[in-house]
Amino acid sequence: MKKLEITATLTVFDSLDELPEEVRQLMIKAVSARKNAYAPYSKFRVGAALDLENGEIVVGSNQENAVYPSGLCAERVAIYQAGALYPAIKIKTMAISASSDAFNVLTPTPPCGACRQSIFEYEENQKTPIEIYFMGETGKVVKADAIKDLLPLTFGKATLNNI
Ligand code: THU
Repeated sequence: MKKLEITATLTVFDSLDELPEEVRQLMIKAVSARKNAYAPYSKFRVGAALDLENGEIVVGSNQENAVYPSGLCAERVAIYQAGALYPAIKIKTMAISASSDAFNVLTPTPPCGACRQSIFEYEENQKTPIEIYFMGETGKVVKADAIKDLLPLTFGKATLNNI
């Protein structure tokens, strides 16, 4: 028997203004994407923005449904849109911001487990890391250098193919 230790290093920025300019602009797009969230049930608005290698920016916001599980998170709306519009183009960076109509979201809001799984699939396919920056409404911004820092034990096509 032995124990394995899993570590991840995240970078914490004190505010939006500490980000590299290109990332700051991307985060502003994520913040703006929150406006188009359709969140009548949770009142929790999430915006995501992707910076692609061809210079395109693809955004997404959470889209809820009266049949609750039919809704989709902002991150998956954005990443599936990137896959649909630019299937061969690598995703460099994802920026995420969350706010609530009911309270001030000060805690950086990471992607949920299902979104991490979806991001992993794209990262595995493109063979280069996707940097992920996430924040609440205001306050600190956290950066993960790659999805493995948020999802260390992965189940992907390599698992299915016994690679
Ligand atoms: N949500 C996202 O858009 N991204 C996440 O990573 C977590 C949660 C959305 C889903 C739902 O519309 C609302 O936030 C509350 O869970």
